[in-house]
Amino acid sequence: VFLPQESVAFLGKMLVIGLSFAATQTPSYDDTPNPEFLNPSWMAGIPDAQPLSGVTMPGTHNTMALYGGVYAECQSWSLESQLHAGVRFLDIRVRHINGNLTIHHGVSYQRAHFGHVLEGVADFLLKYPSETVLMRLKEEFSETNNIYGTVVDFIHRHAHWDLLWHSRTVPTMGEARGKLIILQDFSGPDLGMRYGSLDIADDWKVPSLLDLKNKWRSVSEHLEAAPAGNPEQMFLTFSSGAGVFANPRAVAHYMNPQLHHYLQAQTDSNRRFGIICMDFPAAPMIRRIIDFQLTEVRKDERRFLSKAGGKRGTSSLQRILKDRTKRT
Ligand SMILES: *[C@@H]1O[C@H](CO)[C@@H](O)[C@H](O)[C@H]1NC(C)=O
Repeated sequence: VFLPQESVAFLGKMLVIGLSFAATQTPSYDDTPNPEFLNPSWMAGIPDAQPLSGVTMPGTHNTMALYGGVYAECQSWSLESQLHAGVRFLDIRVRHINGNLTIHHGVSYQRAHFGHVLEGVADFLLKYPSETVLMRLKEEFSETNNIYGTVVDFIHRHAHWDLLWHSRTVPTMGEARGKLIILQDFSGPDLGMRYGSLDIADDWKVPSLLDLKNKWRSVSEHLEAAPAGNPEQMFLTFSSGAGVFANPRAVAHYMNPQLHHYLQAQTDSNRRFGIICMDFPAAPMIRRIIDFQLTEVRKDERRFLSKAGGKRGTSSLQRILKDRTKRT
């Protein structure tokens, strides 16, 4: 729902935000340095047999874009904080230069190289082996169209070959645990899944704040399509966007509450939305996305309990259920 008076108030707010730069933390938008709370091992509650394409999960657009001013910055949490907050899809852009892969958002160098990203993911998965991390990987700010060899080299140097899921096919949750799944957005032999095999809505061009309504339409239409889409195909929806007259923060200031509101209204619908990829997400919104998946687990638990006559004392599902009750 996009009310005209809301949009006027919103544009007014944007002018103020453009002048101040105070970090804010709301239930949907957060550009402070740290998440309000963490969800480091939420995938432990997903049954092993569940195909990953059926999992609804939070992701970040331009995951490493923390520096370079309001037009370059898309996130405010470190990679480690994002993973601990529950983010499981990363969007990584590398510049291929002198045999090196440095992290870039356009011209803005992000004070890191690809090795840092690999080490961060490997450390996280070692600590939380129940989890999986998906990584869209593409070349940015260089045009060699030949990063495959260097990527492989970095994997050997900064992680290990077995960290990767080596197949084009969608793994089950059980197969994916402890693995990094590269969603390959570059040419060369298979390194993991192909980014192009996903059903993607990435209308990132938002020329000005007056185009936000169209942007939201693209996001909501794709979210509506996901539950009915091919269950074996992964769905990926980007709520992020930017343009000359709309920086990522301003777009997220509008999109994140819309998204949060939409998801709240769907809470009990228990639908597959796939990967929801955001700029400046906040912990409560991440929790809400994660909860779509766990609602399914709770339902299974109820089915399981009624089948077993309610007598099974310590099934893992029951433990999950207990943990969840404690948390809420
Ligand atoms: C790659 O670039 C980074 C700068 O981001 C630098 O610190 C590092 O030493 C370079 N690595 C190699 C192998 O040249």
